[in-house]
Amino acid sequence: AECIESSISLAKAARDGLYFSGQVLSITPTTQEQVEILKNVSTQYETGLWQPVSPHNIKELKQVHLYLPGNSSETVKNLLQRHNIAHEVMLPNADEIIEMQMRNDSGDPRSGSTFYYRYHTLEDIYDWINRTANDYPDKVKAILVGSSYEKRPLYALKLSLNNRPNKKAMWIDCGIHAREWISPAFCLFFVHYSLSFYNVNTEMTQILDNMDFYVLPVMNPDGYKYTWTNRRMWRKNRSPQKGTSCIGVDLNRNFDANWCTTGASSNPCDETYCGSFPESEPESQAVANFLRSHKESIQIYLSIHSYSQMLIIPYSCSMDEAENHSELYEMVKTAADEIRRYYRNTYTYGAGAHIIYLAPGGSDDWAYNLGIKYSFTFELQDRGRYGFLLPPSHIQGACNEALLAVKTIVLKVMEKP
Ligand code: ARG
Ligand code: ZN
Repeated sequence: AECIESSISLAKAARDGLYFSGQVLSITPTTQEQVEILKNVSTQYETGLWQPVSPHNIKELKQVHLYLPGNSSETVKNLLQRHNIAHEVMLPNADEIIEMQMRNDSGDPRSGSTFYYRYHTLEDIYDWINRTANDYPDKVKAILVGSSYEKRPLYALKLSLNNRPNKKAMWIDCGIHAREWISPAFCLFFVHYSLSFYNVNTEMTQILDNMDFYVLPVMNPDGYKYTWTNRRMWRKNRSPQKGTSCIGVDLNRNFDANWCTTGASSNPCDETYCGSFPESEPESQAVANFLRSHKESIQIYLSIHSYSQMLIIPYSCSMDEAENHSELYEMVKTAADEIRRYYRNTYTYGAGAHIIYLAPGGSDDWAYNLGIKYSFTFELQDRGRYGFLLPPSHIQGACNEALLAVKTIVLKVMEKP
């Protein structure tokens, strides 16, 4: 609460002209020299590189999204100007949006139907998990799959809406990366939608009649908590590392899929630090153990991230084509087409290494290699206007279009023999 108040007063001070608000800049370097300067800026000042995720991936003519907190925004903008690097202010009032994202987290989490269209603190999400399991004792079970570095429980909700034997299952995890707040919001929304629209919506009924769901709302609770209390732009988990004061491992580089090769970093101070060995982190190990022990029933794997609006299929850890690439490609293409048709919004789709860049050690590729042949990562809204600071008013749209993609893909998988 203290932190929420201090962020609110900062935003007010910025409006009153007493304080520089945090900003997000869009910069497209045009020469190799500018690339080098940007790499320096993004590591030396207290900035948050939004896109690409690591300075190594800054390239000529590729758009860079850079978050500058209030105390460094003027310094960095001056520096860019001195080097004739053109920049556009994408978001002049970042503090105000952060304030908006943290507001409305009402004391009574059940207040009104807007609960799913707001962001929630970690404590409120734990309460919600508890309440959901208690309110639907015959349909929902909270399964403890492990605990985080700071010993917070990792609960997955198992949704099983009827008693048919030998059902297949789908796994969905949210919140691997702490700052991607729309991701946990989607997991909550998805559980709520499933419970409310079973026997109401035809597709959802057909899906839930034939498929169980495991939903892990926050895979990285320590990081998520930290984004609410200390640093909104934190990405990794919060485990301390030997021989350095830098903290945290990128959980989506910590899985055993071409672990720590090009596209991940072995430097604990980097945002894409791969950890000291595959599954070195309790959070990734918990998920990997659960998937290993349920791989006979789990047929579909999905990891929810943001931002950039992409439906990603394996591989991201190499340029190889997945064995059932054309089948997977057809699924994400159809899902993207549906989103365009119903919501007039654009999602790009394809193999991660081709549509983004090499990013080894990801959960999707690992799950795929384990034998879960329908494996996906979604990057939800938006395409960069708000980035990680997606306002609460956009949660509903972001969740609905992602839900449409989930439904489309699950129904396709269910057609398979
Ligand atoms: N933005 C995500 C990341 O950097 C992309 C995930 C795609 N899958 C992957 N295995 N890298 O982690
Ligand atoms: Zn992510």
